[in-house]
Amino acid sequence: MNFIRFAALAAGLFAINAFAAEAGGAPGATPAALAAPCAACHGADGNSTAPIYPRLAGQYHDYLAQALREYRSGTRQNAIMAGFAKTLSDADINILSRYFAAMPGKLDDLSHHEQGD
Ligand code: HEC
Repeated sequence: MNFIRFAALAAGLFAINAFAAEAGGAPGATPAALAAPCAACHGADGNSTAPIYPRLAGQYHDYLAQALREYRSGTRQNAIMAGFAKTLSDADINILSRYFAAMPGKLDDLSHHEQGD
């Protein structure tokens, strides 16, 4: 009986959360809202706005999450990314990593590039 009550409560909370996410309200921020600040450099489609910014689209989600955790802790050092990563919770990192990983990527090898390109 208790379990059923708990399950009903959990389902209710989930529904509320889903509603908040759809409405774009914090704290249940949508992946797109969380990723909005990233678009300036990494592109709204995750494929980067300039060669100096890595593409995130289609990358393994656990690689992206690891990178973000390392920027946050300082293990991987980059002044720009440290500032962004420090604002992210573990949940944010999971959401962002899966969001970018699910985007169609344009990752390729260097066979189409001239040397120094
Ligand atoms: C002002 C530009 C800028 C913004 C905005 C920005 N980044 Fe970055 N990001 C960079 C740069 C530059 C690097 C490469 C840093 C390095 O050499 O480690 C990077 C690297 C990364 C990497 C590692 C990629 C790899 O292939 O190793 C991830 C993941 C990442 N950013 C995620 C994000 C997320 C998520 C956001 C938004 C919360 C964001 N970035 C916002 C500039 C930016």
